[in-house]
Amino acid sequence: MAFKIRAATKEDCKEIFRMITELAVFEKMPDQVKISHEELESSGFCENPLFGCLVAEVPEEHKSKEGFTVVGYGLYFYTYSTWRGRALHLEDLYVMPEFRGRGIGKSILSKVAEVAKKMQCARLQLSVLNWNTPSRDFYAAKGAQDLTAAEGWHLIRFDGQSLDNLANDAPKD
Ligand SMILES: CC(C)(COP(=O)(O)OP(=O)(O)OC[C@H]1O[C@@H](n2cnc3c(N)ncnc32)[C@H](O)[C@@H]1OP(=O)(O)O)[C@@H](O)C(=O)NCCC(=O)NCCS
Repeated sequence: MAFKIRAATKEDCKEIFRMITELAVFEKMPDQVKISHEELESSGFCENPLFGCLVAEVPEEHKSKEGFTVVGYGLYFYTYSTWRGRALHLEDLYVMPEFRGRGIGKSILSKVAEVAKKMQCARLQLSVLNWNTPSRDFYAAKGAQDLTAAEGWHLIRFDGQSLDNLANDAPKD
């Protein structure tokens, strides 16, 4: 099946948001999505965008059962390693179920790697849930290292009350 991987535009945000919610359902955490497509538009398509996004598009004749032609996405942003310098974090990689196994996911991942190389990033990194063995195997087959297994890193987060508490405790200037 023919498909194209291209940079997302502001007009794609409704479709990206739809697939973000599909991915959250797949990840068994649908209630965790608190943003909207407007938030994607304002954070990603402004003077200093906070993320970049590639989408996979199929021709009209191959649209999904529900009529969608944007069928996958990879959303990324830049981060910085004090050991290695510029790095790219892939936040989401998703292909709609009926379009899987046709090379779309691999193509999005390769295009994201191309972006990383163009931006002189030393690394492309991401997090994947422990039980998501198909995706862990997919990344491993492409040559990724599992840092939790190899080096024992934990993913740590402050949000909600814990973030408020920390910020409120900041020394006043
Ligand atoms: C992970 C994911 C993006 C892969 O996308 P995809 O388009 O299915 O993957 P591809 O077809 O490009 O490649 C999958 C690889 O698995 C193999 N494969 C075989 N059958 C497959 C199937 N039914 N589904 C997926 N992959 C299959 C392919 O042959 C390919 O191997 P290769 O590179 O050696 O040829 C997609 O499965 C997905 O969206 N999963 C749910 C969300 C998810 O887990 N995202 C990652 C979270 S971090």
